[in-house]
Amino acid sequence: MPDPRPLAVVTGGSRGIGRAFVLEATRRGYDVVFSYRSREKDAEETVELAAALGGQAQSVRADLEDLEGVHALASAARGRGRASLLVNNAGIGEEFTLEELTPAAWERSVAINLTAPTFLAKELKADLVSQRGAILNVSSDGGVAGSLHGAPYGATKAGLIGLTKTLARELAPDVRCNAIAPGPVATEMWFAIDPAVQARVMEREMPLKRIAQPEDIARAGLDISAWPDASGIVVLLDGGRIM
Ligand SMILES: NC(=O)c1ccc[n+]([C@@H]2O[C@H](COP(=O)([O-])OP(=O)(O)OC[C@H]3O[C@@H](n4cnc5c(N)ncnc54)[C@H](OP(=O)(O)O)[C@@H]3O)[C@@H](O)[C@H]2O)c1
Repeated sequence: MPDPRPLAVVTGGSRGIGRAFVLEATRRGYDVVFSYRSREKDAEETVELAAALGGQAQSVRADLEDLEGVHALASAARGRGRASLLVNNAGIGEEFTLEELTPAAWERSVAINLTAPTFLAKELKADLVSQRGAILNVSSDGGVAGSLHGAPYGATKAGLIGLTKTLARELAPDVRCNAIAPGPVATEMWFAIDPAVQARVMEREMPLKRIAQPEDIARAGLDISAWPDASGIVVLLDGGRIM
């Protein structure tokens, strides 16, 4: 028997796209456990916004660069029930040319953007299977067509697509696993990019001339996660940038 109120686990729910996922999951009737790294006030605000929608969101401070952080989040989630949805959203978009890149910076991106999603799926697998649940990985159009942020971001976001398709096979038929690959989204991550690059992308590469809002990505991501026939798919949501 499925649990009466489904449980969603969202990484990086303190702000940006992750907060939109927490609130959209709340609107759709989920209890939510979400992680953040350090921005406690933002995390508290997400909890309050979920409460204002009549829901229950619990924040967990967890640095996903370390497997202890991954374990802490999974343990908190198990304390609340059996997860039926895992949204691997947290990510970093640190920019490097090859000249600037250091081994430590490479390892950090791999740990947060790729290792944490993999090991969260491993930690929550039994619960997701028991609920016949779903995993949604937040990749990027830079993982499909090459990234403006440099090698660590482009490679880890492409890796997340490989992880998505691999878990879709491994966990079928019990758990569906899909990815969403946004283009520019109005969050701190996008606005941290050089304004000249932002303007160039918008002018030359975006047929729709529109930056997505975090809520657009969250709504689409949760729709995809609910499609009973979708597993192993990657939905590009980037204003027509990559066709
Ligand atoms: N914005 C875009 O244009 C865009 C486009 C394509 C894909 N994406 C992807 O969408 C996802 C969300 O991006 P966003 O724009 O919402 O990012 P953001 O505004 O920078 O927010 C990042 C979130 O991840 C958390 N986080 C960062 N490092 C962490 C760590 N080491 N451990 C745990 N949590 C950590 C942050 O927690 P704190 O608040 O505590 O720091 C925050 O909740 C990312 O995977 C990103 O790659 C974004």
